Amino acid sequence: MEVEIAKDIGFCFGVRKAIESLDKVVDEYSKEEIYVTGELIHNKDAIKKYEESNVKFSQNINEYNGIVVIRAHGISDEEREKIKSNHNVKKIIDTTCPYVLRVHYLTKKMVKEGYHIIIIGEKDHPETRGYYLNVKDNCTVIEPSVGIKELPKVKKVAVFAQTTMNYEKFKEIVKELVTEFDETRIFMTICQPVINRQKSVIELSKECDLMVVLGGYNSSNTKKLRDLCAKYTEAVHVERISQLNPEILKGKRKVGIAAGTSTPDWIIQETYEFLKNYTPS
Ligand code: F3S
Repeated sequence: MEVEIAKDIGFCFGVRKAIESLDKVVDEYSKEEIYVTGELIHNKDAIKKYEESNVKFSQNINEYNGIVVIRAHGISDEEREKIKSNHNVKKIIDTTCPYVLRVHYLTKKMVKEGYHIIIIGEKDHPETRGYYLNVKDNCTVIEPSVGIKELPKVKKVAVFAQTTMNYEKFKEIVKELVTEFDETRIFMTICQPVINRQKSVIELSKECDLMVVLGGYNSSNTKKLRDLCAKYTEAVHVERISQLNPEILKGKRKVGIAAGTSTPDWIIQETYEFLKNYTPS
């Protein structure tokens, strides 16, 4: 079977940096309790491996103890202060992605300049939640899947995107917003690795009969990649190739492989090997 891997695939630099930092912490502080502010990557095997090394993944900041690693998604200022003032916490390692830090900086700056903030992103996603909590008295979140419902009665808005959102959807919503206010400042905050991935899967999807999209079922950027592929061809989202129903491969000439930003390389490789050697019965 013909198989091709998307050009931009696998860990983004932000996730890679966070993993390297956590690996270092595990080596250096093997006797301490280690807390991460939520799953660092959406992969059950990797999470299990860390849990065996005394790492706990939890969003409940009240239970933190020992060493705390802030993951790439970031947290709100209030949460950071709360962790800092917790006497049980000995050290904080902050691996918030620079793209996320940029949005935190800009949203606060624009509030000071008198703008109401509009974030296009998922309300429950930890990244968007962090932005919202910092400027909540001057902020509206628009969920991409819901679209524009109610808008604030203000004159000036500054618009931001969750870093992992679909850039075509962002353009669509922004187009609708610009006619609603006297002044609209637009900040393109979808991160470059995500844009590159989206562009490369669109390209590949157009050439394939099926796209296999790899990533955790709770990974927001993987779900978005699957939806994007599905616009151009048949697409299926699995965590591991063993979860793929082989029936779907029947009659397929070329299969493409895409993966979210927190999918380990070995999962991509095992998928490639399986599909390459697959002979439909
Ligand atoms: Fe950063 Fe974008 Fe990855 S925001 S963590 S480079 S998905």
